[in-house]
Amino acid sequence: MKEKIDALLKEVERFEAKTAEELEAFRLRMLSKKGAIPSLFQDFRHVEPEARKEIGRLLNELKQTATLKLQVLKSGLEDQASGQETLDSKPDMTMPAVFNPIGSRHPLSVVRNKINTIFEKIGFVISEGPEIEDDWHNFSALNFPEEHPARDMQDTFFVEKQPDIALRTHTSSVQVRVMENQQPPIRTISPGRVFRNEAISARAHCIFHQVEGLYIDEGVSFADMKQILLYFAREMFGEQTRIRLRPSFFPFTEPSAEMDVSCNICGGPGCPICKYSGWIEVLGCGMVDPNVLDNCGIDSKKYTGYAFGMGIERITMNIYQVKDLRMFFENDLRFLNQFTSAL
Ligand code: PHE
Repeated sequence: MKEKIDALLKEVERFEAKTAEELEAFRLRMLSKKGAIPSLFQDFRHVEPEARKEIGRLLNELKQTATLKLQVLKSGLEDQASGQETLDSKPDMTMPAVFNPIGSRHPLSVVRNKINTIFEKIGFVISEGPEIEDDWHNFSALNFPEEHPARDMQDTFFVEKQPDIALRTHTSSVQVRVMENQQPPIRTISPGRVFRNEAISARAHCIFHQVEGLYIDEGVSFADMKQILLYFAREMFGEQTRIRLRPSFFPFTEPSAEMDVSCNICGGPGCPICKYSGWIEVLGCGMVDPNVLDNCGIDSKKYTGYAFGMGIERITMNIYQVKDLRMFFENDLRFLNQFTSAL
């Protein structure tokens, strides 16, 4: 009896099951009603009384070991089965990657960045200032006479009256701040959002964007300005671009001019884009009025300078042939998605 128990115990300990079927066969052989272990319990009746205690203990141990082994092997096989499932549902690393769609920069940002880079390359630094301005920085320091129509409610969004606080109508206000805080040489461009009380149409909006430039040093001339503007036009619209300057008026520059560039669509002869003139108006410019320099604490006897300002919307409309300026503000994805390849 004792040998039989020992032999079965060894068999139980050695047993390994690779499949559920093997395990079930083991259970039937060892633990089922007619299995080896219950049969030994049957035979227990014939064991001599002196040996009963020991044999009984051994028998119980054998049963416990077999039952435990059965449980352990069973849960091991179950883990394996569910492990197999997780392995199958893991991503297939050999599949081609699915790329997330890339967003696009807003066309106005694309063009603003390009303008910034063109001027940064020749030593201009970017300056920024507040969108809500006082009368001094937006108008008075810039030589606007008290009764100038641009100060009128028609053009300006006032936030407060007396003292006048308004949404800036141009980023020349930023340049006033630069001149007040810095002595020449000054080379700066001021990109930013500006506001004018205008009726919204395909060609005008009450919010738009500008880049204005300012250069002040000893002996700066109109010819210097013309050269820098020609450089800008060629970088922006292409090597073949020509420019022309027409006399104009701004309170803060004297003399003042408007700059046109040769039409980048027809190249000169005339087309619907340039309204058959061959030229496209791009920016305002001029020599900084000595009054402005003096207002900002810069000696107008010693220094001269030029300034220029352009609307980003108008240039963007021209480059991408956008017919309606309101598209820039609608955030319609069908429009914006067309600029994914732009920088
Ligand atoms: N500040 C002018 C505007 O808003 C543009 C400009 C800037 C013109 C500098 C001349 C010189 O229209």
